Amino acid sequence: MSHRICAIPGDGIGLEVVPAALRVLRALPLSFEVIEAEAGYGCFQRTGQAVPSETLAAIAGSEATLFGATASPSYPVEGYRSAIVTLRRHFHLFGCVRQARSVPFTDARQGIDLLIVRENTECLYIGRETNYGDYAEATRLISAGASRRVARLASDLARQTGMRRVTIVHKANILPLTCGLFRDQARAVLAEHPELQVEEMLVDTAAMRLVTDPERFAIILTTNLFGDILSDLVAGLTGGLGLAASANVGEPGPAIFEPVHGSAPDIAGRGIANPLATLRAAVLLLRHIEEPEAANRLDAAIESVIGGVVLTPDLGGTATTDQVVDAVIAGLASPVALGGVR
Ligand code: NAI
Ligand code: MG
Repeated sequence: MSHRICAIPGDGIGLEVVPAALRVLRALPLSFEVIEAEAGYGCFQRTGQAVPSETLAAIAGSEATLFGATASPSYPVEGYRSAIVTLRRHFHLFGCVRQARSVPFTDARQGIDLLIVRENTECLYIGRETNYGDYAEATRLISAGASRRVARLASDLARQTGMRRVTIVHKANILPLTCGLFRDQARAVLAEHPELQVEEMLVDTAAMRLVTDPERFAIILTTNLFGDILSDLVAGLTGGLGLAASANVGEPGPAIFEPVHGSAPDIAGRGIANPLATLRAAVLLLRHIEEPEAANRLDAAIESVIGGVVLTPDLGGTATTDQVVDAVIAGLASPVALGGVR
C-alpha cells in the first residue's frame, strides 16, 4: 500500500531538512506518494498568503504531514500569521508532544527521558493583541474542553509509554482563573487514572528543576506558551535544536510532524543544517501511519548516527546535511533490534 504524505518545506533550513528527510523516507522499503505544498513567509511574499488553500487541501488529503520550518518576523506584518500556528488551529491539533532523551555525548546530561505535552491551540498564541497607543494588551484563552483534551492525550501517552509521573505545570498563583482552570481540568481527567502519580509545579520552578534534576520528570503537561519555552529548554539539555522533534496531534485525521527548530536564517543555504530533528519527526510520522517497523529501523539508524562521528557543526562535527543523510541511509541497511525503541 502506498502512503500519501504531505511535505511542507517552508522557509530557511526547512528547504534543506525536509528534502533530506524525504530522501531518507524513500530509502525505506515502503511506498510513498509525496504531495509537496507551500507555506510560510516566502510563500506569503510570493502569493499574499502564508497558508494557501491548496496547502490546506493537501494536508487534509494526506495521512500525515512533514513540516519543516517557517520564518515569522518579530514585528507586525499586515495579513501574516505564523503558518504552523495557523495550521494547528485550523486542523484542531490540540496537542503538541515533544520528546527529550539524553544523548550519548560525554559532556551531556544523562538520565533524561521525558515528554512535554502542550496544549497547542489556545493560551496567548491565539494572537489576539490590541495596541492602545501607550499600552498594548494580549488575550489569554484557556478553555475547559481544550484543557481536558490535552490531559487525556497525556494519560494516553502515559499508558503507551509506561511512564507514571505526570507533572502539571502552570502559574496559578499569579493567574488563578486561566492557569487554575487548566490545572483543575487536568487534575479531574488524570484522577480517572489512579495508577498515575500526578503532581503540579509552578512554571518558574519547573524551569529551574529541568536544569538541576531533569531526570525526575516523565510527562510534563502544560499550556501553550509555557510548553513552547520549556521544550526549547529541554532541547538544549538533550543535544540542542538540531535533534528535537515534535508531533502536532488531534482527533483521528491529519497530524503534522515537525522539528522544534525554526528557519535558522544564520545557517540557511549553507548545507550544514542538522537534518536529525526532522528525521526524528519522520519517525513519529511513521508511527502515526502505523509503520512501526520502519519507525524503529529509522529511529535506530538515527541513534547510531548520533553516537558516531558524522555530525553537523551544531553537534561539534564537520559533516554536511547530505553526509548525515547518507550515514542514516547506510544505517537503515544494518540489522537492528526491533521493538523496545519508543
Ligand atoms: P531557530 O530555531 O531557527 O534557530 C536558533 C539557533 O539554533 C540558531 O543559531 C540556528 O542556527 C540553530 N539551529 C536551529 N535548527 C538547527 C539545525 N537543524 N541545525 C543546526 N542548527 C540549528 O530560532 P530563531 O533563530 O529564534 O528563529 C528563526 C526564525 O524561525 C524566526 O523567524 C522564527 O519565527 C521562526 N521559527 C519557526 C518555527 C516553526 O516554524 N515551527 C519555530 C521556531 C522559530
Ligand atoms: Mg518554539
